Amino acid sequence: MKILVTGSSGLIGSEVCMYFANQGHSIFGVDNNQRAVFFGPQGDTSWRLKELQNALPAFEHHNVDIRYRSKVLSLIQKIKPNAIVHTAAQPSHDKAASIPFDDFDVNAVGTLNLLEATRQFCTDSPFVHMSTNKVYGDGPNKIKLKEFDTRWDYDDPKYENGISETFSIDQCKHSLFGASKVAADIMVQEYGRYFGMATCCLRGGCLTGPAHSGVELHGFLSYLVKCNTEGKTYKVFGYKGKQVRDNIHSEDVAQFIDCFVKSPRMGEVYNLGGGKANSCSILEAFEICESFSGRKQKYEYMDDNRIGDHICYYSDLSKIKEQYPEFKLRNSLNDTIKQIVCAHSS
Ligand SMILES: NC(=O)c1ccc[n+]([C@@H]2O[C@H](COP(=O)([O-])OP(=O)(O)OC[C@H]3O[C@@H](n4cnc5c(N)ncnc54)[C@H](O)[C@@H]3O)[C@@H](O)[C@H]2O)c1
Repeated sequence: MKILVTGSSGLIGSEVCMYFANQGHSIFGVDNNQRAVFFGPQGDTSWRLKELQNALPAFEHHNVDIRYRSKVLSLIQKIKPNAIVHTAAQPSHDKAASIPFDDFDVNAVGTLNLLEATRQFCTDSPFVHMSTNKVYGDGPNKIKLKEFDTRWDYDDPKYENGISETFSIDQCKHSLFGASKVAADIMVQEYGRYFGMATCCLRGGCLTGPAHSGVELHGFLSYLVKCNTEGKTYKVFGYKGKQVRDNIHSEDVAQFIDCFVKSPRMGEVYNLGGGKANSCSILEAFEICESFSGRKQKYEYMDDNRIGDHICYYSDLSKIKEQYPEFKLRNSLNDTIKQIVCAHSS
């Protein structure tokens, strides 16, 4: 198969390239290293592009900005991929407020460009879109919570297994990033329902792994480990450092994308994260990281939380398990953090 991957030098995109190339498929990567523009040199993903070019003979890179409609249309017309995996994005909740046009143009308009190009030139090809749990805005913060020594948790049996896909995305605070991702998410669903295309949105929890170019504004675990191993101070923003995230290794995200491409459905939505079993608070992440690096985490506590930041979020994986029973999380939270520590220490 010919697989077109946008954001191919980023965390998820590059893992997807590796995953499908190892199965013998031809990979067409699309990435203009916009992450370096968004976040400066620390966000530069060109190192990962070089790794892909060295490792994968069947990899073809296209330095295309997904905002440029005519380029996106002609690229997809030329390649006619058998599957499209769309991971390119302005990915930061906080960054979006200072670059609202860029954020919306990349996240919403870029997604529309890709969807329409797919409809025109390869309608039957599955289209997988990386959405985000930020489409639920700060709605999850309205759930009753209980406080433990090192974390918050839901105090409502309805959410015992986490947040499911039926959770409202409406009438809450999203951040501009969350809003541009909602626009893309709804459009991806619409191309499924209205045009009958095989599209899905993966509403990610914290996606992580050694291939992330983590920065303070994006890439929670990657950046936390980087601070630990380099002896830098990590800033904790509010909620006593007990805010909870569920973490999933990029390999497991790629594995799920493979399940969907093999057995696609129409206009679907899935919450994809590590689930409750792979959730941790920031304080707990420090402890796990310290156990592998042997270095005490330096951190500074800021009273104010990030605007609209989740206090506790973990994905309910029931729908995925029911529709794709072959999908299994292969990397535990501890394994994942260990791998990131090793990557930063080498
Ligand atoms: N990492 C997370 O914790 C997380 C959580 C939930 C959802 N997501 C979503 O998953 C997707 C992938 O996230 P990631 O962590 O791999 O991000 P990333 O920043 O590591 O990768 C995105 C890549 O897209 C490229 N890109 C950005 N704008 C582009 C443009 N206009 N044209 C071409 N390429 C462009 C960047 O250069 C970068 O290499 C995003 O849609 C993000 O919103 C990520």
